Amino acid sequence: MESTKLLNDGAKQIMVQTKDHNLSNGGDVVIDLDRGDPKMFYTYWKKVDNECSVNIKASELISYFPNPKDADFFCQMPEFIDAVHRVHRLVGNAVTEGRYIIEGTGSSQLFIAALRALACTAKETTSNKKHIPVVCAEPYYSFYKEVIEQERSELYQWKGDANTFQSESGPYIEVVTSPNNPDGTTRKPVLKGEEGMVIHDLAYYWPHYTPITSPADYDVMLFTLSKATGHAGSRVGWAIVKNKEIAKKIHKHLFLMSIGSCQEGFIRATKIIHFVADSYEHDVDYMLVKPPKVPVLFEAEGLFDYGHRILALRWKRLRAIAQRSEVVSLPDFSPEFCNFKGKLTYPTPGI
Ligand SMILES: Cc1ncc(COP(=O)(O)O)c(C=O)c1O
Repeated sequence: MESTKLLNDGAKQIMVQTKDHNLSNGGDVVIDLDRGDPKMFYTYWKKVDNECSVNIKASELISYFPNPKDADFFCQMPEFIDAVHRVHRLVGNAVTEGRYIIEGTGSSQLFIAALRALACTAKETTSNKKHIPVVCAEPYYSFYKEVIEQERSELYQWKGDANTFQSESGPYIEVVTSPNNPDGTTRKPVLKGEEGMVIHDLAYYWPHYTPITSPADYDVMLFTLSKATGHAGSRVGWAIVKNKEIAKKIHKHLFLMSIGSCQEGFIRATKIIHFVADSYEHDVDYMLVKPPKVPVLFEAEGLFDYGHRILALRWKRLRAIAQRSEVVSLPDFSPEFCNFKGKLTYPTPGI
């Protein structure tokens, strides 16, 4: 038996009654459909606490500007940018060579900065005084709509579902989330307008969630540590941008919003990302070419394998619950060849 409960703040929970009387609430499993919190990798990280801890002295990270000599990108931390290049090269999920990598306080902040940068650019080249429409194919990650409507920007306006958007000629921004939150599907832009701009939110394009079929190479791509390694509390995200002027505008907006991001988070992210990369690149062939700088605990299963295993188990359990349910139904996913794993894998969305 199950019931859907609307909480005070509008969030939804589904109560599913099971026969598991070991559960402290008498056999009810609560599926919280509203708030995702990626704590599922906690056990993995607990085991390597010491290898991944960072020590920041009182005298360190005092300046506003981690990279003052770079006139265009002075708020960027070079060590972090190197780590981002490394992990994307390893996984093969995004092209970073010759691209601009911009740090942000989570990809949520970068999303706003990217909207502003793209909308400003569109406004510079059009006499059109109207807001730049922002759309995304349904079902979409609810944050996009909420944040744009809350912001009431003079530059852009939320226009809802890209599938029903009446595309007059002129600029627009389409948000493409792939794999998609909430349904886990792989997505491409639905609109084909000549003046269209696209923000690709690739938060879940990692091998624990989905097969990596090719390196993504789009104009503006957003990634986040929250989903890559599960460290949501560090508030670390990055944008990969093709065009230098757009990248500079994103950086400028971030500078105006918060004078860059908290550097402690990026130091920690750098350590964590190198740990993940080291755990895959310790094999003999790789060591001959490029020995790792820091000795690490190689017995640890790589995060992407651990994550895929844990998510597969969770999907199995969720499917068992859904089978008994009249309220919950789940999509079926087909396997695809994952270039990173070198084999066919099933998507195991983390949403
Ligand atoms: C598709 C997608 N993008 C971005 C985010 C948030 O990323 P961050 O924690 O970096 O702000 C989420 C969080 O659930 C998400 O589902």
